[in-house]
Amino acid sequence: MQNVAVLVGSLRRDSINLRFAKALEKLAESKLKFTYLDIGSLPHYNDDLWANPPESVLTLKRQIAAADGVLFVTPEYMRDIPGVLTNAIYWAARPYGKSAWNGKPGAIVGTSPGVIGTAAAQVHLRSLLSTINVTLMGEPQVYFQTKPGLIDDSFTVTDEGSRAFLQGWVDKFSAWIDRHGEERQQAAAE
Ligand code: FNR
Repeated sequence: MQNVAVLVGSLRRDSINLRFAKALEKLAESKLKFTYLDIGSLPHYNDDLWANPPESVLTLKRQIAAADGVLFVTPEYMRDIPGVLTNAIYWAARPYGKSAWNGKPGAIVGTSPGVIGTAAAQVHLRSLLSTINVTLMGEPQVYFQTKPGLIDDSFTVTDEGSRAFLQGWVDKFSAWIDRHGEERQQAAAE
């Protein structure tokens, strides 16, 4: 079983991105164990706080460091990603030289009610993550347009075609973590 640290870029109780993450978790239950990171408890990024780092920051960094892979589930805000997600990325990237992200196998998904399904936000996020050396899976890309009933209350994707596509995504992400996790271990041993 691979441990995946999951960052959902919405704090809403009824977030469609949280629901989408849970649908992926259900499809992945034999392969991936999801840990949802509490990014809502983090303070706004401030270098000064490293003098006495908040427990929420230390927990975030510990959970990312312990994970085999990271998954970003992003809403789209103003064609970009929400500030709460950017803030979490900043915290885990610091202090300089002690980033938790370096070489982590990762993937981006997202959903919105709009037809482009967070595609614009994901371009920004991909660019941001390339600066901190997350080993991001390129394909398949997931731009999921949420429609009523598409994910039911037990987190099942009700449309067969969408479910098959997302199952394929889960399998590829699991293989991606395997492949790049081994690379990280080899690099650490050298
Ligand atoms: C949005 N929304 C939105 N949707 C989109 O497809 N493209 C966009 O650029 C934006 N911009 C945007 C800005 C702000 C400030 C908000 C609050 C919302 C709508 C957004 O997709 C919708 O509210 C989703 O439900 C947000 O995701 P969660 O919170 O349900 O996961």
